[in-house]
Amino acid sequence: TPPEDSLILIFGASGDLTKRKLIPALFELWKNGQAPENFAILGVSRSRYTDDEYRDACGNFDGNDLASDPRWAEFRDLVHYEASDATAAEGWPSIKQRIRTLSEAHRTGQNLLFYLSLAPQFFEPVIVNIGNNGLVTEGKKYCTIDTQRPPWQRIVIEKPFGSDPGSAAHLNRVLAQVFDEDAIYRIDHYLGKELVQNLMVLRFANSLFEPIWNHRYIDHVQITASETVGVEGRGAYYDSPSGGAMRDMVQSHLLQVASIVAMEPPITLDAEDVRTEKVKVFKALRVPRAEDVPEIAVRGQYGEGSVKGERYPAYRSEEGTDPGSQTDTFAAVKFHVDTWRWGNTPFYLRSGKAMAQKKTEIVIYLKPTPHALFREQAMRARPNQIVISVQPNPGIRLRFEGKKPGIGLNIKDVVMDFDYEESWRASPPDGYASLLFDCLRGDQTNYKHRDEIQSSWNACQPILDYWDENPAEDLPNYNAGTWGPSAADVMMAKDGRYWRND
Ligand code: BG6
Repeated sequence: TPPEDSLILIFGASGDLTKRKLIPALFELWKNGQAPENFAILGVSRSRYTDDEYRDACGNFDGNDLASDPRWAEFRDLVHYEASDATAAEGWPSIKQRIRTLSEAHRTGQNLLFYLSLAPQFFEPVIVNIGNNGLVTEGKKYCTIDTQRPPWQRIVIEKPFGSDPGSAAHLNRVLAQVFDEDAIYRIDHYLGKELVQNLMVLRFANSLFEPIWNHRYIDHVQITASETVGVEGRGAYYDSPSGGAMRDMVQSHLLQVASIVAMEPPITLDAEDVRTEKVKVFKALRVPRAEDVPEIAVRGQYGEGSVKGERYPAYRSEEGTDPGSQTDTFAAVKFHVDTWRWGNTPFYLRSGKAMAQKKTEIVIYLKPTPHALFREQAMRARPNQIVISVQPNPGIRLRFEGKKPGIGLNIKDVVMDFDYEESWRASPPDGYASLLFDCLRGDQTNYKHRDEIQSSWNACQPILDYWDENPAEDLPNYNAGTWGPSAADVMMAKDGRYWRND
């Protein structure tokens, strides 16, 4: 299916995400001929902008500089703006009026894509207002025996999707009152990243990896998403009950990535088949008992330090944070997927702000050979690793042992390198463009099903509860610019393992 004609309504249009990611992604699709033939964008927010002022604000935003692209002048006419409060009933007559005029002017028919790029407390009132205004005619509210495709209305909802199992379930209920499940697109931009999407290809388009992709050959899996930035002006959100590394990164992005590493091969590539297999992984996540939490989870918070040679303030002195904050700016967790394939193989996930390096990678550590033939050699055999680098330096690298050149038998690890940028002579496209493209075609494969979210919250909540009930006395416990608290290394060392920090 090609992307279908539609009017895209972005709520939270004056926010950073819209200007930094969504408008550039739609511009990219349009330039590449991957946008619908007829489409237009209506940004909605409370800030006062005219259409032209809003176009300028998007075109000149921060580092994006879309305005210097010769094709921007043409694209900007597709962008419109309505200053209105979509959380209040009074805000809607003018929004509906704009929908009518723009759908007609741009010949987009009745297809509507609602994109909620809002702070989480605004999700519910906006969804309720979309429903109350009778804008959703598809699905259960639409009855037709017409063989033509009826118009659709879809909703994309950003994270955070709830801040615990109860609030996530509530949000799912609110959504279900207005939209059918197949019209709900819960976005996770990690699922739009090239190397994450490549995981399925690596596993299921090759016969090389899948035979060893199980507890018999894999010792453990490590997934790291470290960032050098701190909370960057988002202190108030990050320090709220919805913030922290565990909620912001582990519960969402990292468990999503883990589910693709752990899933069974789907029957087909249809969204339903793929998501069915992912849901099974989430359901198989071992829910930790409170008494196990200190053994399987480590929280951290950065203190002052230096990142890439620059002094960095402590988290607690960032704007908007509490001076006695307990918020985790680092989290490391050992998960288990209790299935036949994975047995007791641990999945170690970690993420943190103000760390030594920005990198997202998945490392599959293989077990040692059954017989240690080379134990006498100067350099002993190290475990083979399959390293999937999501960012930076996207690629897939196999580390295995080779013979050192020269007389005598000595071994050393060598690397077989698939470098994405070198091989394809291109940088990976932005994940938002690919996810928006999918949504415009009605493909939910790379969006989260409600059951995935629910089960991932269930697996994380005991850890969050334990942390709430047992404040840490040692925070801050790592210096900005390092690899996180030593407790995370101790957790690994107790299992005879170590984090891959290079
Ligand atoms: C977001 C988090 O979802 O992902 C941010 O809310 C984080 O805190 C960001 O910085 C990281 O994304 P990326 O694409 O830079 O790895």
